Amino acid sequence: MSKTWFITGAGRGIGTEVAKAALAAGHNVVATGRHRKQVQQAFEGTKGQLLIIELDVTSPERADFAVDAAVTHFGGIDVLVNNAGYGQIGLFEENGADDIERQFATNVFGMFHVTRAVLPVMRWQRAGRIFNFSSMGGMVGFAGASIYCSTKFAVEGFSESLAMEIAQFGIHVTIVEPGFFQTDFLDESSVRYGEQGIKDYASFSSETRTTYDGYSYKQAGNPAKLGSALVELAASREPPLRYVAGSDAVKGIATKLDSVHAEINKWRSLSISTDGSF
Ligand SMILES: NC(=O)c1ccc[n+]([C@@H]2O[C@H](COP(=O)([O-])OP(=O)(O)OC[C@H]3O[C@@H](n4cnc5c(N)ncnc54)[C@H](OP(=O)(O)O)[C@@H]3O)[C@@H](O)[C@H]2O)c1
Repeated sequence: MSKTWFITGAGRGIGTEVAKAALAAGHNVVATGRHRKQVQQAFEGTKGQLLIIELDVTSPERADFAVDAAVTHFGGIDVLVNNAGYGQIGLFEENGADDIERQFATNVFGMFHVTRAVLPVMRWQRAGRIFNFSSMGGMVGFAGASIYCSTKFAVEGFSESLAMEIAQFGIHVTIVEPGFFQTDFLDESSVRYGEQGIKDYASFSSETRTTYDGYSYKQAGNPAKLGSALVELAASREPPLRYVAGSDAVKGIATKLDSVHAEINKWRSLSISTDGSF
């Protein structure tokens, strides 16, 4: 049965591919992005029920407007894909307060704005699916990505808790944790680096940047395949809370979880020693 998908950041990268996969499967798609023209170009020649709406997720008013327009056009929203986001990379001390606020305004508060606008629709329907884009970096910390990772860790905590709050309305949340996918993510048109150079970090910082630059457009993850996977998950009766995407993410997250287990076990007796009589 055809569903209505609402996708943020659909003008390029993973967002475009998720939208194309949903259209190809016969679903209605509301493709949103900061620049209407760019989104239109991304879907030139693509067949299907498509509505394009301009939406910068940092604006709660625009999120409300976009959701209203989507509901007016298609009658509801069945699947929300909170995909919009970018990487504010560089070591913590190299990033200024403005860089950090902008990063949270998009990756975290933007997700809140759009989710807050969509939830009344899904509660009324007593049904819905939400895909929140985290990252392998939402489960594993990376040197040189402390700010980006902190936004994605926030997405994890938000999504896991929200899932418990809205399951009663038949709404499922799936956290998407991609490894490295081949998009503009590490290109200068998307990624931002902290520019407050600090001598102590100079060589570490340039090594980190060289490493990330080296991944750009060489990532193993195929965004079109991720799009198809989300279409399959949306149709699943029991979608997972977490969907790890890509072999690098599976390896990285499994290793992290093993190390957390090992550390808990190593320190177990000191950890439980804090229970006690008052
Ligand atoms: N590619 C990876 O390796 C990777 C790995 C893990 C997680 N992710 C996550 O996957 C998601 C998509 O990234 P991608 O790989 O497709 O990167 P991308 O090619 O750089 O695309 C990012 C998308 O987010 C949009 N966006 C950024 N700020 C926005 C805002 N304020 N309002 C609305 N849209 C905004 C961009 O719009 P503009 O075109 O207007 O800039 C663009 O459409 C992000 O959440 C990212 O953190 C990606």
